Amino acid sequence: MRFTIKDVARKAGVSPATVSRVVGNYGYASQESRKKVMAAIRELDYRPNAIARSLVKKTTGVIGMVVTDIQNPFFACLVRGVEQAIWQKGYALFLANTDEDVSREQAILTILEEKQVDGVILVPASSEKTRHLCNFADLGIPFVLLDRSARGVNVDTVLVDNENGAYQAVSHLIGLSHRRIGVIIDNLDITTNIERMVGYRRALIEARLPVEEDLIRSCQFTEQSAFEICARMFKTDKPPTALFTTNNFMTIGALRAIHVVGLRVPEDIAIVGFDDLESSQICWPSLTVVAQPTHAMGIMAAERLLARISKQPSPPMEIRMQTEFIIRQSCGYAMGLPKKANG
Ligand code: RIB
Repeated sequence: MRFTIKDVARKAGVSPATVSRVVGNYGYASQESRKKVMAAIRELDYRPNAIARSLVKKTTGVIGMVVTDIQNPFFACLVRGVEQAIWQKGYALFLANTDEDVSREQAILTILEEKQVDGVILVPASSEKTRHLCNFADLGIPFVLLDRSARGVNVDTVLVDNENGAYQAVSHLIGLSHRRIGVIIDNLDITTNIERMVGYRRALIEARLPVEEDLIRSCQFTEQSAFEICARMFKTDKPPTALFTTNNFMTIGALRAIHVVGLRVPEDIAIVGFDDLESSQICWPSLTVVAQPTHAMGIMAAERLLARISKQPSPPMEIRMQTEFIIRQSCGYAMGLPKKANG
């Protein structure tokens, strides 16, 4: 049975208004009244009604977070970073997935507005279809973008240096004498992939190597789609000798395709992937990757949102964190311990 403020007031012999002031820790209540109320709360095991409390305090204590797909380890780690930071400040998390469907993203934001969340952290489903994001930002609800930016949405944004990360990966393969480097990429309507492609092209151009469009293969944001596009790439008469895979799902799909077509890593094909994986170090050969500071990204986004909730005024910030290039064995590095690239 759920007891109400009136039950507590009756038990304590005070008015409901006194119970509200004691529970909400505002206004005046004598020490004697406080003791009576706290005793009645314990005896009835009274739990304040969160909805009633939010009406009084004008806050819900809930933060909305919108990601692409929680089953992707990258987003799971992002969420853990956010939750760790907000929980310490007394906030709970309301999580939703967009699957990079813009209409679903819009519907989720409508629900979050109706739920009166105290703030929202969002991974944009598109860099261009952003009108609904601009409209949400105009509501004045504290709003932070994470992992990707979105055209015209001027709010705090936490990103990584995708271009430099990709440039380092492809330059490393060029340094190992690879001249035909393929790239497997999914949704080109998100800024992470747009920026990684810039880094890929810049590395080739600076090395005076041609950018062969045939070596650029795009697919859906799934392991299966990456597997299929890679299997087709390796059946051509001139497959690449190295591959840059632009996120963890692309890497996994490519590794499966390489195995199925009977090629070996790194002897037949060198691989460098964006996103470190739990299995990167235990799979054989261990994966050379561009690692994102994923958990720290989540904490950073949460700290920016909490600052906005507490009304800390400042112009919108773009915070771009650095990736880490970790050389292991899938790139043809001499079989040995993983080596961290300098710089
Ligand atoms: O695997 C997730 C990573 O790749 C994220 O950076 C996401 O934006 C995708 O580009």
